[in-house]
Amino acid sequence: MKKLWILALLALAPAFAQLTELPPGPGRDLAFTKCQQCHDLGYVLDSAGLDREAWKDIILSMMDAGLELTDEEFATLLDYFSTYMGENPPPPPEEEAEQIKKDVTGIDVYKKACVACHGENGQGVPGAFPPLAENPYLFKDRAYPALVVIFGLEGPIEVNGQTYSGLMPSFAYLSDEEIAAVVAFIRNNFGNDKLRPEDFEDLTPEEVKALRQKNLQAKDVHALREKLK
Ligand code: HEC
Ligand code: HEC
Repeated sequence: MKKLWILALLALAPAFAQLTELPPGPGRDLAFTKCQQCHDLGYVLDSAGLDREAWKDIILSMMDAGLELTDEEFATLLDYFSTYMGENPPPPPEEEAEQIKKDVTGIDVYKKACVACHGENGQGVPGAFPPLAENPYLFKDRAYPALVVIFGLEGPIEVNGQTYSGLMPSFAYLSDEEIAAVVAFIRNNFGNDKLRPEDFEDLTPEEVKALRQKNLQAKDVHALREKLK
């Protein structure tokens, strides 16, 4: 019943310019991790323009489906969706977007998107998050690390004798510039300069853009890694 009702609401939602990614705003990162545990962001993006009550019902029905949220996370997500994907979303902060395009630096992207799991010095967490420091897989294939960032990675892996069997979520929401910069950053730091073959060329944002077209799943990226052994 509830579901039909929500679908009917969706059909009534005003024809908003189709969103292709989650708009910036506090709560975006949380939405990014919480809302693609069971499906991709398509459903979420298609719901842009709904009012607060409708967003509340959606989040509640996702909780019925198994989504786990603390009260605080619930409030953050509700505020985020009803503000930035609500009836009157604020105009996108153009200046800020321009700024990001212009001065993307790998270390900033790393601190924003990677440090929580892979650590300040790329050391990772034994048994949970693999090290990016002195990791030979960064150089076995030019595209591989960028594919991990774009599509995620799922399946057992071994790095320097330690095994990991986690899931890295996709970071496709980062821009081409940000992905190129962060991959170059990890390849040039954390002791990886020692492993770096001479004449090795970092990826350009254009190459990252082309890689997005591959449309892989995290498991496909794992299969690709297996072939690099
Ligand atoms: C525990 C799994 C799970 C999580 C996590 C989840 N969803 Fe869903 N979602 C579903 C299922 C199941 C459907 C129905 C899919 C279908 O009919 O194909 C769905 C469908 C939807 C739909 C389409 C309307 C509907 O109710 O069928 C929207 C919108 C949606 N989800 C939004 C979200 C948002 C926003 C989040 C994050 C706050 C989220 N989902 C997280 C399981 C989940
Ligand atoms: C939520 C935790 C988390 C975050 C945040 C994260 N990763 Fe990962 N990363 C993982 C896990 C877990 C794996 C291993 C997945 C597996 O076992 O299949 C991994 C694997 C990798 C690998 C592959 C290593 C190998 O040996 O094949 C690369 C490269 C990588 N991450 C880069 C990044 C970059 C760059 C960022 C930031 C844009 C990032 N990760 C953010 C958890 C994370």
